[in-house]
Amino acid sequence: MKKIGIYVHFPFCVSKCNYCDFNSFANMDEYQQDYFNALIKEINQYSNKKILVDSIYIGGGTPSIMFDGAISTLMSELRKSFIIDSDVEVTIECNPNSVTIAKAREWKESGINRVSVGLQTASNNLLKLLGRKHTKNDYINAVQIIKSVGFANINTDCLVGLPRQKLSNVKHTLKLVKKMDCTHISVYSLILEKNTKLEELINNHKLYLPKEEKTIGMYNFALQYLKECGYDRYEISNFAKKGFECRHNLNTWKMGEYLGFGAGAHSYFNDFRYNNLSSIDKYIKAINSNISVIENKEKITNSEKFEETVMLGLRTKYGIDIDEIKQEFKIDLLKTKKDIISKLIANGFINLVYNKIIPTNSGYSVLNKIILELVS
Ligand SMILES: C[S@@+](CC[C@H](N)C(=O)[O-])C[C@H]1O[C@@H](n2cnc3c(N)ncnc32)[C@H](O)[C@@H]1O
Ligand code: SF4
Repeated sequence: MKKIGIYVHFPFCVSKCNYCDFNSFANMDEYQQDYFNALIKEINQYSNKKILVDSIYIGGGTPSIMFDGAISTLMSELRKSFIIDSDVEVTIECNPNSVTIAKAREWKESGINRVSVGLQTASNNLLKLLGRKHTKNDYINAVQIIKSVGFANINTDCLVGLPRQKLSNVKHTLKLVKKMDCTHISVYSLILEKNTKLEELINNHKLYLPKEEKTIGMYNFALQYLKECGYDRYEISNFAKKGFECRHNLNTWKMGEYLGFGAGAHSYFNDFRYNNLSSIDKYIKAINSNISVIENKEKITNSEKFEETVMLGLRTKYGIDIDEIKQEFKIDLLKTKKDIISKLIANGFINLVYNKIIPTNSGYSVLNKIILELVS
């Protein structure tokens, strides 16, 4: 039986953070109920009892601000529409200031078994600068609540390379996350997204990004510290205690199939990649008028699939398997890229282990170059 992941998107947020260009909107809560009804209709349309779902990711936006009962209804509708693995991993993303005991209990009782908390930084000044509405103490309180109702698998998202961020702040943030005993930590380097408030502030010289060497220093600290604390870097930005790697994200990096539901959600299924309308209003109207919510749909060619397999596979500690690539794409990298592979090994950027190409930590810092050399 074919195994897939499911992604469900909730695009509502209390306010829009300065740096965020995800499909998320503030002050749209009056649409929550209509959106939710449309979402359930979309899920029911895809009902398929011939595929097995082994991971569900409820992301956003901020799923934790959905009205009471939304998450438990969502979970029971997913169970009605698909065969859900008894060992399924179910993640919900939340912002620290919207976690309550009642919500956490609802998540636990509805079968969610992994909670991802967006801390970003433990500095209240930096949180304010980013336009976030929570404090460090809200984070501590949220994790305590999540643990108190019995969740054992908790992720925390952190950011490095923020304006006015110092190495001492990164140390303080990661030490706090370690103290809270999270099983998984994502450490993202800030991406300055176009048309965000942060980009405007930087373009107008109101704020400055740290120099590249400083951000590299912050990341290097994270690598060393998290390793010492027993977190394994299993993907370029993701660190986990043994056995707590995120199955949903691993599925994506390994080119596994997934269905995405909700406004702006992406899917990869039967060799097609597609994405839904991103506007909340248009999404609801399309569903209610029985019009497709798919905005773009394209079949992935074999050469695109090869490139994506290399690009995504090299992000992880499992790397890319030369024999599997030879079998699936009829490309023998050891022959076609012999000199390049030797050079990358000699420069310490990759290792070749049991016919798998795996980037080293220095390789991760030049990953785009490595990918380009292997696929071009
Ligand atoms: C889209 S958010 C959803 C979770 C939740 N709303 C939150 O903000 O914590 C998922 C994660 O993406 C990361 N992220 C968002 N914008 C980013 C950016 N511009 N650069 C790097 N990471 C970003 C943050 O770490 C965030 O926790
Ligand atoms: S809360 Fe999360 S999704 Fe919402 S705007 Fe902030 S970073 Fe984006």
